[in-house]
Amino acid sequence: MHSAIVSPKGVWWKPAGKQEKLWVTIAFVWCMILFAMMPFWHFKGGQNPSGMRSRVDPKDFAARAQRFVEDYKVGDENGIPVVAPPAGSDLYLVARMWAWSPILKLKKGATYTLHLSALDVNHGFSLYPININFQVVPGYDYALTVTPNDVGEYKIICNEFCGIGHHLMVGKAIVEEGESTASAAAEVSEVNNE
Ligand code: CUA
Repeated sequence: MHSAIVSPKGVWWKPAGKQEKLWVTIAFVWCMILFAMMPFWHFKGGQNPSGMRSRVDPKDFAARAQRFVEDYKVGDENGIPVVAPPAGSDLYLVARMWAWSPILKLKKGATYTLHLSALDVNHGFSLYPININFQVVPGYDYALTVTPNDVGEYKIICNEFCGIGHHLMVGKAIVEEGESTASAAAEVSEVNNE
């Protein structure tokens, strides 16, 4: 008969063998090493983002992004504006159901400040095919110092479920071969004069 009082047949309640104790010890020590690695990499690793977070009203963020688009717009793609801001400028990337706006055209080797925020619900910034991920939260402006180090066309994928159109929320960033800052700025003012 089996009950909570009468132990079932088996060997599991016998003291652990020497080898078992050894492996449990090794596993425990390894757990502690990995646990210590977390704070260690936080201070020592080069992978920490350069983020500065500040509060922002979604309406204000939308207005800043609108001005950014008006200043540096160079085209349109399926209704989403394409902007080519000069090196050193502030970039505004707006996340909302269910699109990223605008499309960013950047120069390799140039440094920018990328501002991320959402207008409605939480979204997730995921740069594809590179594994870079950030939360995009309404009410907060998350600013990152970015320097593209490779040319190409990158997709910006939403990785936070944000409703029925979540899977359609794909944006774009284009990185082109860098020139000197002066000629890049000249190119932009030329475009603005058109
Ligand atoms: Cu935005 Cu999912």
